[in-house]
Amino acid sequence: MDRLLITGGVPLEGTVWVSGAKNAALPLIAASLLTDRPVELDQVPELVDVTSMLRLVQRIGTSATHVGGAPGRIRLHTPELLSHEAPYDLVRKMRASVLVLGPLLARAGRARVSLPGGCAIGPRPIDLHLKGLERMGARIELVDGYVEARAPEGLRGAEIEFPQPSVGATENLMMAATLARGSSRIVGAAREPEIVDLSLLLRSMGARIEGAGTSVIEIEGVARLDGARHSIMPDRIEAGTYAMAAAITGGRLEVRNAPLELLGAAREKLVEAGVELVETADGFLARRANGILEGVDVMTRPYPGFATDLQAQFMALMSVARGAAMVTETIFENRFMHVPELVRLGARITVHGGSALVRGVERLKGAPVMATDLRASVSLVLAALAAEGRTEINRIYHLDRGYEHLEKKLAAVGARIERVP
Ligand code: EPZ
Repeated sequence: MDRLLITGGVPLEGTVWVSGAKNAALPLIAASLLTDRPVELDQVPELVDVTSMLRLVQRIGTSATHVGGAPGRIRLHTPELLSHEAPYDLVRKMRASVLVLGPLLARAGRARVSLPGGCAIGPRPIDLHLKGLERMGARIELVDGYVEARAPEGLRGAEIEFPQPSVGATENLMMAATLARGSSRIVGAAREPEIVDLSLLLRSMGARIEGAGTSVIEIEGVARLDGARHSIMPDRIEAGTYAMAAAITGGRLEVRNAPLELLGAAREKLVEAGVELVETADGFLARRANGILEGVDVMTRPYPGFATDLQAQFMALMSVARGAAMVTETIFENRFMHVPELVRLGARITVHGGSALVRGVERLKGAPVMATDLRASVSLVLAALAAEGRTEINRIYHLDRGYEHLEKKLAAVGARIERVP
């Protein structure tokens, strides 16, 4: 098991390039199943989760080949489906595997996808995915922990209303509706930028979609979809993470290939906390405005609210701010597993149900800590970069799921960080 050794206290200075968005790449790869024509994706990030998704679609019948020497350019071609199954051993490692459900049903009228099971941050059911597909005429059965879905006569357009926004369910149903007979409306759709990015690829494949990015998405089904080429949007969570890396270390980073507005509500909250964010041609500059960070309350909300995927990172930042910050997590049931680890580094945090009260401290102190899930892991990296002395972070395979070349990017801007097997 690899570990990260970090010696903190160095203000980070320099430039970081943001990679393609993990949470856009995963549905985009699944979307390539919708056509027998080639789909070419650019800016594909080199991440464990992306490799898992590629392996899954390859099992289903997709050939995935690197194109033109550029590592991030992949050509996906599924002339025919050899399997309709997403097996448990893949789905349990990565919940996003359920995103093949809609495309398989739409293209072949059948799918057998393992239920995701729980994960570190909560039970995360897929009831909204399944109810929506049933509304479109699919027959769904749960057999031996698998979703067995059938739509022998194909899917039909439907009006689907979500009681709460779900990114994955919106993506699955939007993909399924592109090949359904008739038109569909998704009301209460999630509005994340990754959903807009997926709609851009689908439209360039010939799908008829309006309203992606708003809470009402309308899709007119078509008989078949064509191939297309698409460049994946930048990773807004990675961009936000590096903005906080600059702030927590008292350094100054130029974050490139990520427009500032991608930070959404996190932008205002960071400015309120005393982080200066200045727009540049293809990104932004991030540093402390006047040396002091102020405690600021945040509540995670569906986009355009404060991203739950930035909550752990923001908590690390608040642990060295002046004053107190109330951090409330409203999306997932159990997304505070970074708290006891941050406390080991000297943070003063108490959890009360869905809220954590952070009282800022002068300095954090290095110590051995353990990563528990993707975003918790990177919050420990941020804290370690600011802490006095050495921190050893264990189980960093979580990090490799969502941050491309993290230690290289940080070392390039002065971090004393080393990966040891
Ligand atoms: C996506 O997960 C992201 N993953 C998550 O990022 C992100 O945290 C999440 O959206 C929220 O923004 C990908 O895009 C691959 P949801 P997803 O469906 O689609 C409940 C990361 O770190 N729910 O919007 O699984 C669910 O339990 C990951 O990159 C149902 O109850 O999230 C959760 O509490 C972590 N029934 C809430 O809705 C359903 O059918 C939001 O889930 C579906 C979801």
